[in-house]
Amino acid sequence: MNRFAGKSVIVTGGSKGIGAGCVRVFAAEGAHIGILDLDAAAGQTLADELNASGPGTVAVRKCDVSQPEDLKRAIDDFAAEFGRLDCLINNAGIHPPALSIEETSLELLDQVLRINFVSTFAGAKFAVPHLRKTQGTIINVSSMTAVLGQENSSAYAASKGAQLSLTKALALELGRDGIRVNAVLPSNVDTPLMREWAATLPDPESALKRVADLQVFGRMASPEEIGKVCLFLATDDSSFVTGQGIEVEGGSSLDY
Ligand SMILES: NC(=O)c1ccc[n+]([C@@H]2O[C@H](COP(=O)([O-])OP(=O)(O)OC[C@H]3O[C@@H](n4cnc5c(N)ncnc54)[C@H](O)[C@@H]3O)[C@@H](O)[C@H]2O)c1
Repeated sequence: MNRFAGKSVIVTGGSKGIGAGCVRVFAAEGAHIGILDLDAAAGQTLADELNASGPGTVAVRKCDVSQPEDLKRAIDDFAAEFGRLDCLINNAGIHPPALSIEETSLELLDQVLRINFVSTFAGAKFAVPHLRKTQGTIINVSSMTAVLGQENSSAYAASKGAQLSLTKALALELGRDGIRVNAVLPSNVDTPLMREWAATLPDPESALKRVADLQVFGRMASPEEIGKVCLFLATDDSSFVTGQGIEVEGGSSLDY
């Protein structure tokens, strides 16, 4: 408890899904948390619940991470409000429906890269001046698709691979400043994004069961299980870990 007391973290896409799982885990550790999300109303509902229970505090700001000016202003404002920034979790992302490369327009590719990858690059760029002062950390929520691929998801997988490569290059660049940069690569997590994807298929329940069975535990991860790995990467418990893609995949890539 209270491993992040007096410290602050910004979570992009923190209103729902994995981001909300991160917010819950860091709130339980006493953090000051800034949520940046398109869906500010859902973020505010989460913030109201967690501010009532403590020990952490949660503030919400509507922000489209694919708009660099919005993102810079929001990061600078939260850092000023909290008086410091100890961690940025670049989590906001989208997964378009399954499409072959011929069906994927270049406009869609551009949109996926801007939301999933350019926002990660820009968020890191804008957070670095604040993180230098605290020797803080950057955590990029990538995906196992970065290393395994995913059929009919070339734009998405490429955006997640770009996040992983950026993680390694930035870890080299920022190590001497005491800033650590890592990525988390989930396999399948039970989130609104996952359920929205299943809803596009003829039999959503059997699709969700099929996805759950990919993990050796026969279930998906909870958002909080990903949040706990992010907490590990944000604290001194991982002080010698940088530039890594931590595969939080429930054994799903074993026994091929
Ligand atoms: N769910 C999974 O199984 C899974 C697996 C691997 C990786 N991931 C990655 O985890 C991250 C979160 O996924 P999730 O499943 O929690 O998704 P989700 O759709 O359940 O939640 C995403 C959150 O991000 C917000 N968001 C989306 N676009 C935004 C934008 N342009 N600006 C600001 N906020 C925006 C949404 O409003 C939402 O609150 C994504 O980067 C995704 O690629 C998810």
